[in-house]
Amino acid sequence: MKEILSLNNLEVKDILEILDKAKEIENNPKPHELENKILSTVFFEPSTRTKLSFISAMYRLGGKVIELDEGGNNSLKKGETISDTLTMMGLYTDIMAIRSPYEGTAKRASEILNIPVINAGDGANQHPTQTLLDLYTIQKEKGRLDNLNIAFVGDLKYGRTVHSLAKALDKFTGNKLYFIAPNEIQVPSYILDSLSLEFEILEDYESIIKDMDILYMTRIQEERFDDIEIFKKCTGKYKIDKEILNISKSDLKILHPLPRVGEIDTNLDSTPNSVYFSQAKNGVFIRQAIISLLMKNHVKPKYDGVDRVCKNSKCISQKENLGGKWIYVKEEKKCFYCEK
Ligand code: CP
Repeated sequence: MKEILSLNNLEVKDILEILDKAKEIENNPKPHELENKILSTVFFEPSTRTKLSFISAMYRLGGKVIELDEGGNNSLKKGETISDTLTMMGLYTDIMAIRSPYEGTAKRASEILNIPVINAGDGANQHPTQTLLDLYTIQKEKGRLDNLNIAFVGDLKYGRTVHSLAKALDKFTGNKLYFIAPNEIQVPSYILDSLSLEFEILEDYESIIKDMDILYMTRIQEERFDDIEIFKKCTGKYKIDKEILNISKSDLKILHPLPRVGEIDTNLDSTPNSVYFSQAKNGVFIRQAIISLLMKNHVKPKYDGVDRVCKNSKCISQKENLGGKWIYVKEEKKCFYCEK
């Protein structure tokens, strides 16, 4: 089983293996499978769903968990590097889930540790385990992962869940994506250039909502903006409530990675169209599946050679002065860590 670091190196067969395993675990829990194994959660950014569903998943498999205190009560405060911190956690545990504001941190962990590593979100780059639970939810709700019309709304520039899910949907046939955001926070060109499927770029959803199967709402992420004036301009533009169901298909499903901060009115929560809470619950089954598969057998990613230093200021290679390492993604040479 490949480590879950990026959607770039997950093939359809890998995705379906994880989704099938999640379904098997949901139907037949495995409460003793990982007794005496320890998961580390190394989160350098806040999290409710991802971190706690990983912890719940490990407990439900019979394992144990240790956490790095993301409140800062650890030796990063004394100047220890992220790389050394990861090395330590890797020596104490059997598998690691890592979240970081620096793109490529999970790749860095994977490079220096001998245990399986899972990317639980790296900056504005990717959030592959969220994507797997999104796909699991779509498959449950729609019975398929192909031939779907899917609208993404909100912060599509910094929204790593959008970047990962768009890449995943590109692996299945007949999907069409609609990216709805103000120009300032539209999907980055490096994501659009990597897609083969059909897509449209829009600022409003009113004209297309009647054709949508899935509406994927996102939060405008204040913490990622370098310019607070752009955040103020973009925030509050998209707010949906029950009225949207008057102009949508009756079986529209509304997803959101959460947390929400006002973009979905609570009057939608009790409708059969809203699946964001069951989507979050599905995260436990998906993360159980990932941990279970990786603990049986895991494969480290490879890189070739040492070359140019990455120019992405948010890349872990710049934060920790790691020098340049490059890989090929779809025949294009990219930074090993952040894939930019
Ligand atoms: N969906 C998600 O990543 O939520 P958290 O930030 O709470 O983990």
